[in-house]
Amino acid sequence: MNESDSQRMGETLARAGWSPVGEPESADLVLVNTCSIREKAEDKLYSALGRYRLLKARRGTRIGIAGCVAQQEKDRLLHRAPFVDFVLGPDHLDKVAELALTGGVETDFLDTEQYLFPQADPESSRGKATAFVTVMKGCDNVCSFCVVPYTRGREVSRPYAEIVREVGSLVAVGVREVTLIGQNVNSYAGGCGFAGMIRRIAAVPGLLRIRFTTSHPMDLSPELVRCFSEVPRLMPHFHLPVQHGADSVLERMRRKYTIAEYERRIGELPPGIALTSDIICGFPGETDDEHRRNIEFLRRTPYDNLFSFIYSPRPHTGAILKLKEWGEVPHEIAIRRLDEVQGLQMARTLRRHRERIGSEVEVLVEDTGFGRSRENWTVHFTGEARIGDLVKVRVESASLVALRGTQVETLDRAPLAERPAKRRLAVVSA
Ligand code: 5AD
Ligand code: SF4
Repeated sequence: MNESDSQRMGETLARAGWSPVGEPESADLVLVNTCSIREKAEDKLYSALGRYRLLKARRGTRIGIAGCVAQQEKDRLLHRAPFVDFVLGPDHLDKVAELALTGGVETDFLDTEQYLFPQADPESSRGKATAFVTVMKGCDNVCSFCVVPYTRGREVSRPYAEIVREVGSLVAVGVREVTLIGQNVNSYAGGCGFAGMIRRIAAVPGLLRIRFTTSHPMDLSPELVRCFSEVPRLMPHFHLPVQHGADSVLERMRRKYTIAEYERRIGELPPGIALTSDIICGFPGETDDEHRRNIEFLRRTPYDNLFSFIYSPRPHTGAILKLKEWGEVPHEIAIRRLDEVQGLQMARTLRRHRERIGSEVEVLVEDTGFGRSRENWTVHFTGEARIGDLVKVRVESASLVALRGTQVETLDRAPLAERPAKRRLAVVSA
């Protein structure tokens, strides 16, 4: 979401006459788009600001802060870092060019009815095989560890006709795969449900692949499950974050499901879906026994890949208020538990990757010699394929992070999406 917001702001700034440079040292404006999901992400802002402050002193560079830390800290950021020129929250991406000139703070949430989703400029996706498409923003859940409902506000769904139009415009410049993004895409309600929207997008001519992220298990509908078997363009990868394997922790996290319920839901998915998840270790009050249940759950759940994090206390969340009552898990214990979770998953991911050696996988080429399989595995290969081609690769070796192999067949060539020649115009006064 952060990356996609950066693209939208880049496009708005480009329309206002700004052009991108490779490194901050030669820029007239540095815009830092921040993430506040964990403290570490937030710390990055302050170390970056230390560097840009020197730049400003030397070259007069303007400095703007966007994203979730901007939304969280609002004008407090200007007190902490008075050399910053402007601060804008994720609801105001379209105001970035104006603020870059005037300076100031724009962090009020817009009413649901007032909110307009920024339209992607398809030109910035020309030459790429994949693109993100925003389908909703905000989150109405109240997971007690999560700052997102505070920084991104209430859920607002983008009307489906707008989404289908955007997908069509991306396909027209050569994009072959879209990832539909939102904090909680399963509760999409932009004139139809999420499954209905996937089916509409699948009907866009020329599109090869659809992915989506991210989902809350409680909003997983039977219609969406059916899409996996009935919509061939929907890729067999499902990121369905569980967060923890013990019911008592899930309750404190306010996740609204039990492990049995989660397991029943994933049991209904058709075979062959690569299931991935997020896990938080060291959540307040996590006991040895709860950790053991987490590990037991992970042992019996065949996740294809796992993203695991140490709990990070976030402002304005339910869990931070209960930190004393539930008890903070000492950092060394949290790290040990994380290591155990990661060790378990790394061994399994490596084993799964190795099982692929000798088989053939379908790869959409995203860069020279690089692409992704249908399941979202990273594949490096040798071959002649161009960006946007769909190829078959024979897997010859595997590591923890990728498969390697040789292209054996081209299944579908990328349509030529050359930039149209600029037509030259002279306006003369007479
Ligand atoms: N501490 C640690 N991990 C967190 N996540 C969200 N908030 C926190 C937090 N406070 C993780 C969750 C979520 C992923 C995007 O980040 O696992 O699914
Ligand atoms: Fe955060 Fe996701 Fe829970 Fe929403 S559903 S509060 S974004 S973890």
